[in-house]
Amino acid sequence: MTANDRNMKDLTNIMFTYTSDMSDLEEENRLLKETISQLKNDVDRLKTPPLMMCEVKDVYNNNAVIRLPNGNQFFVFISQSCTRINPGDTVLVDQKNLNVVRKFKTAKSFNVEKFLIIERPTLSWNEIGGLDMQKNEIKEVVELPLKRPDLFKKVGINPPTGILLYGPPGTGKTLLAKAVANSTDSTFIEIVGSELVQKFIGEGAKLVKEIFHLAREKAPSIVFIDEIDALAARRIDVGTSGEREVQRTFMQLLAEIDGFNGLDNVKIIGCTNRKDLLDPAVVRPGRLDRLINVPLPDNQGIIEIFKIHTRNMRLAGDIDYEKLYKLMQDLSGADIKAVCTEAGYFAIRNQRYETNKKDFLKAIEKVKGQKKTQEGKEYLKMFG
Ligand SMILES: Nc1ncnc2c1ncn2[C@@H]1O[C@H](COP(=O)(O)OP(=O)(O)OP(=O)(O)O)[C@@H](O)[C@H]1O
Ligand SMILES: [Mg+2]
Repeated sequence: MTANDRNMKDLTNIMFTYTSDMSDLEEENRLLKETISQLKNDVDRLKTPPLMMCEVKDVYNNNAVIRLPNGNQFFVFISQSCTRINPGDTVLVDQKNLNVVRKFKTAKSFNVEKFLIIERPTLSWNEIGGLDMQKNEIKEVVELPLKRPDLFKKVGINPPTGILLYGPPGTGKTLLAKAVANSTDSTFIEIVGSELVQKFIGEGAKLVKEIFHLAREKAPSIVFIDEIDALAARRIDVGTSGEREVQRTFMQLLAEIDGFNGLDNVKIIGCTNRKDLLDPAVVRPGRLDRLINVPLPDNQGIIEIFKIHTRNMRLAGDIDYEKLYKLMQDLSGADIKAVCTEAGYFAIRNQRYETNKKDFLKAIEKVKGQKKTQEGKEYLKMFG
């Protein structure tokens, strides 16, 4: 091999090393570029403003009416990558232009049963003292249509969809609703207006929707809305977002009630101590349009309620019932029950199984005293 040849070979070797070094460097360069671009993407992603969640009210081709969490509604564009958006969907929208960017997949229905009291009550009509007129009316407007819808069809009339029970606390409104659920073998679904408003902020309207869906599924059913005034109070000013939220829940409730007719096997019973506060919309014809007053018991009522709650007690022979009934005149059913319980306690404290006249007199005094303190507290709360 000549010196020239050797030089040539060395040079070729060197060139080869450089070339392979270069391809290594190129590869490294490529990897670094990729990392940079990934990091840039990350930075971009971290810099993007958050998307806002809202509800779709209506869809028109590529546009939608969305409702923001604060209640305002906007007509916006739907991004082309978003397909199949329907009213009622939850979507993510750009904060600046509010255009719909993506559909948000929520669990289709959250477990509404967890939040409700659902039961099959076993209470019978004869566990309710007095209130004969009220019982009859409820039998006519709730029980009969559920049991004999054919009658109404033949006569050609539509019974009420719902009723409103109103009256002072502790007079048996809840009892009446439970008794009719029992006598019609219905599922009893209880919601409390104030809870719906306070516990489920932002979810009230959705919850109402789910509740009625459930009521249909479990029909025949009675939807019992206690303290309906918390939801359906007349609002003078719906300025704050909290009030708007309540208003929305209320609107949803009205929409659900409107979705039934009197012959459906779901009946709605609203309950309130403050009928004066109610928005007239809720008692409009076709809604809770049968108003049933549940007052404090009359004489006959007092006697019957007292008998119901002393049914399982051993009573001494010395009791002057007429006197007791007179003393209990301005008490509610719940108060009368409390009197019986308290009287029994006096007997227990005296190591007796039998409850006597004195026990009852002391019990009435105690319950009346507690009532006065309670009323005093409420007065102070309102005006103090
Ligand atoms: N007419 C009645 N007959 C028998 N018991 C009664 C009667 N009214 C009330 N009571 C007793 O008082 C308790 C409370 O009654 P209920 O829950 O029906 O009152 P309400 O009218 O729904 O009161 P609120 O308006 O405070 O919800 C009952 O569990 C029952 O023991
Ligand atoms: Mg009640």
